Amino acid sequence: MEDLASFIRGIPKAELHIHIEGSLEPEMAFALARKHGLALGYPSAEALRRAYDFRDLQSFLDLYYAGAAVLRDAEDFYLLTRAYLERARADGVVHAEIFFDPQTHTQRGVPMMSVIEGIGAALHAAEGDLGMSSRLILCFLRHLPEDDAERTLDEALRWRDQLCAVGLDSSEKGHPPAKFARVFQRARAEGLEAVAHAGEEGPPAYIREALDLLKVSRIDHGVRCLEDPALVERLAREKVPLTVCPLSNVKLRVFPRLEEHNLKRLMQAGLTVTVNSDDPAYFGGYIGENFGACQRALGLGREDIRRLAQDSIAASFLPEHDKAQWLERIRTFDDRPRPS
Ligand code: ADE
Ligand code: ZN
Repeated sequence: MEDLASFIRGIPKAELHIHIEGSLEPEMAFALARKHGLALGYPSAEALRRAYDFRDLQSFLDLYYAGAAVLRDAEDFYLLTRAYLERARADGVVHAEIFFDPQTHTQRGVPMMSVIEGIGAALHAAEGDLGMSSRLILCFLRHLPEDDAERTLDEALRWRDQLCAVGLDSSEKGHPPAKFARVFQRARAEGLEAVAHAGEEGPPAYIREALDLLKVSRIDHGVRCLEDPALVERLAREKVPLTVCPLSNVKLRVFPRLEEHNLKRLMQAGLTVTVNSDDPAYFGGYIGENFGACQRALGLGREDIRRLAQDSIAASFLPEHDKAQWLERIRTFDDRPRPS
């Protein structure tokens, strides 16, 4: 099989499904725990990393929320975000749309200002010195009541101009999108875009609900749509992008092995599909590793990679003018030396 590593690394791409709290590497967790005088319950970063063996989404979320407890001030959020952006830039990411979970932090007494201003400062710096554009997506935790999401939205609107969209994450089963119809409607009335995790562990019906009730413009994960052919037809017709996270799906046992992942079938069904890292510190890789592992396991070719990169830009919330520029760069991208 052709070695596409440098093509994958070099081709411009957007990352549209990354939880910033999920980019907390064990080494940084230990450094921040030391800074704040906290105990992590593991003897070393290596021991913590060895504990990343998950049965399902919930077993991951339990560790992920516990890990986030070391994030306490604006500098912590700045360092976390900066580390992610540098790593993503090395993988050819030119634009990132980043999720954050304010409720995970405000519930622990961390002011929302520390979260948004810390992340925001890193995004602003990366625009200058890494040449990366970005957007911020506020996710509501679906295991909490809608009231809590409403209060979170009220407070976050102080930073309205720093936010691009609202999203929905955390435990999917038993928490259908319908539970959040009112808060999403209010967010959209404020001019925010909407996205939602659906069809990761939950049924295709949750994807339909996210479209019909939350009026989302993208589905995060969405891999279970293939169980419902009429839904696949609708997603293709309405050009609703899926932000797929292949290594995450294997770590959380949505698919037993990457070779059995349905990424290629989703592409063959005519859907707009993007590849993303979800929670890279927990799932064994950033976007480059996700592309590389899929390329090897599913036999993706150069033009499949090009299409995934094109879809990532097309599915982003960038202005049409910026999209057109990146799409042209991707169309003509070639990592091989020109014959002379
Ligand atoms: N929060 C962080 N990662 C998540 C995922 N994969 N699904 C739902 N909520 C999440
Ligand atoms: Zn996710």
